[in-house]
Amino acid sequence: MKKDFLHYQAQTSPHPLTLQVSRASGSYIYDQDNNAHLDFVAGVSACTLGHCHPKVVAAVTKQASEYMHVMVYGEYVQEPAVAYTKLLASLLPSNLETTYLVNSGTEAIEGALKLAKRATGRHKIVAARNSYHGNTMGSMSVSGAESQKSAFRPLVPGTTFISFNSEKDLAKITTETAAVILETIQGGAGFIVPKNTYLQKVKARCTEVGALLILDEIQPGFGRTGKLFAFEHYNCTPDILVIGKGMASGMPVGAFVASNELMKNLQTQPKLGHITTFGGNPVIAAASLATLQELTTSNIINDTLEKEKLFKKLLKHEYIKEIRGKGLMLAVMLANADITNHVVMHCAKNRLILFWLLFEPKAVRISPPLTISNQEITLGCKLIIEALNSYKK
Ligand SMILES: Cc1ncc(COP(=O)(O)O)c(C=O)c1O
Repeated sequence: MKKDFLHYQAQTSPHPLTLQVSRASGSYIYDQDNNAHLDFVAGVSACTLGHCHPKVVAAVTKQASEYMHVMVYGEYVQEPAVAYTKLLASLLPSNLETTYLVNSGTEAIEGALKLAKRATGRHKIVAARNSYHGNTMGSMSVSGAESQKSAFRPLVPGTTFISFNSEKDLAKITTETAAVILETIQGGAGFIVPKNTYLQKVKARCTEVGALLILDEIQPGFGRTGKLFAFEHYNCTPDILVIGKGMASGMPVGAFVASNELMKNLQTQPKLGHITTFGGNPVIAAASLATLQELTTSNIINDTLEKEKLFKKLLKHEYIKEIRGKGLMLAVMLANADITNHVVMHCAKNRLILFWLLFEPKAVRISPPLTISNQEITLGCKLIIEALNSYKK
């Protein structure tokens, strides 16, 4: 099977991890020999409620047996999508009341950028260095990593880059700017949190010059940082919120959310201003609804901050320089990239799943299911410390 995987399925790197999966449940992924691998990555922040959460499985199964795809986005009234978007609006600030459902994070970013251009009549975008917003042309154009972009030029023109957390750079947001797009917490860069009032200052500058603020919460959203959305920590409400990843606990999804007035721009001039065949798919919407209901009727989100404390208490070692991030979006910063590689590979052998971050080679990613138990955290941290102890310079 591994040989077929490497040949028939397109690859993204020369050295994929090649764990052969037979099933997954809770915080564990099981391989072909039924060995349990403790998952500290959660499909890269996607499996919010763990693998195959019974309520998500039940919602998907029920919906799949009633109807699946019936029409392109936005034409027919389908209960799962309506119930989901209504519940989401009730949990968000009043200006974030209307949701456009799509199939992935990058597609949601494309929609948000188009909406900002259409609504403001401007075309310039301000984005942050070291940001990551996705891999299609528009989202890649506003992502910061030059090394990932240069092979694919020309990209969409008109993006100015600023440094995240630099107040000095806010002057680059001008009356020509359609939108500023930022991750609320920078992911690929090493889980960099915004300094105190940085986001509020960005928002104030946007308001001053008539630009829109787009916050990308594709990774930190849905409880991962101890609030339903990370912007709630920073008293800054975006004009357009972009979500995805953990939204449906492991099903492919994305969405952008804005005021009804803003969103109406996609209905005219041109009509069909943004369209998608599968966006709002009822099975995915049912999974999203089950996830959101579970998150908001349990202690899962509050417990995230306690679990962060436990990780920070247990992960102490001379090679650990810092633990960045918030809640269960943690980057363990090691002394150098060699130690990081050693820890990820050593733990993989001992059946603890860890991963890297996109642009920060010294970081080990810890983004487990939010449902992970304290016992599982303790076990995994013990394996990380063992891996660090076994590193030979
Ligand atoms: C902050 C952020 N934005 C956008 C994306 C792109 O989402 P997707 O991979 O679903 O297209 C990601 C995915 O890692 C992300 O972390």
